[in-house]
Amino acid sequence: MDFNRRNLLGLEGFSAEEITHILDTAESMKQINLRPIKKVPTLRGRTVVLFFFEPSTRTRTSFDLAAKRLSADSVSLSASTSSLTKGETLIDTARNLEAMGPDLIVMRHSMSGAPHMLARHVSPGIINAGDGTHEHPTQALLDMMTIRQHKGRLDGLKVTIIGDISHSRVARSGIIGLGTMGSTVTVYGPKTLLPPAPASLGVQVAGSMDEAVADADVIMMLRVQQERLGEVLFPSLREYAQRFGLAQRHLKLARPDVLVMHPGPINRGVEISPEVADGPFSVILDQVANGVAVRMALLYLLMSGADSEET
Ligand code: CP
Repeated sequence: MDFNRRNLLGLEGFSAEEITHILDTAESMKQINLRPIKKVPTLRGRTVVLFFFEPSTRTRTSFDLAAKRLSADSVSLSASTSSLTKGETLIDTARNLEAMGPDLIVMRHSMSGAPHMLARHVSPGIINAGDGTHEHPTQALLDMMTIRQHKGRLDGLKVTIIGDISHSRVARSGIIGLGTMGSTVTVYGPKTLLPPAPASLGVQVAGSMDEAVADADVIMMLRVQQERLGEVLFPSLREYAQRFGLAQRHLKLARPDVLVMHPGPINRGVEISPEVADGPFSVILDQVANGVAVRMALLYLLMSGADSEET
């Protein structure tokens, strides 16, 4: 199919055909990552700027590796070491970066909508690597790739997302993407951390932990994002772990081939027990490995156009 997008700001508006095309391309990229020499010349001469205003281990490293494996040049910039600390505005910083001629800017920011604003002001393509509580589209794509690899499909699956749904950009992009691909999404968490109008998102809300995990094909746990909780929205981490944490006993209620997922970083013993995180149903490190392949696919699809070399 023709993939004519220049930006990936969110999964809102993406068709099932487009998502399938990205996942299929990521499967090809995964083959490169399995070779002894993990490098192809596909994006030689292209430049990617990684512009991260929030901490990241997985997303930043995997974008950097993705660029390098496709032979693109990558440059990393963090807010704390940039001239933003001297009072330069975000738009001025972006325009100065643009003047240096990058092809693509990958951006993570604490403000929802920051990558969208950048896309209106500069000419390079923009990938949203997580904006506030809004979207984290590349996470949802790598999650869907992981589910599809293990289950062979996305349609007709019961995917349960548990935790801080209202502050989670991972949940939001996941709900949009999985819904587009035909999965049924159920959410569960403290009432104070559930979205105000779940029906408008197309999700079902479970009434208990047992109901949430019952017959689930996939259980996706979310990190308790203490940095985004401006007020106390649940009594304590201990009580959270008891009422909303995933333990071994829950897995007996799910499908026998249930997948346990988590975007990372994990708060061990809070939202997920160590035995479950490291257990036989966990595909958490598969998610991380697929993150490189998905990001290679996106760099390729958004930057290469018709004139690129074959992988
Ligand atoms: N899942 C995720 O976005 O992880 P990082 O914050 O480490 O990038």
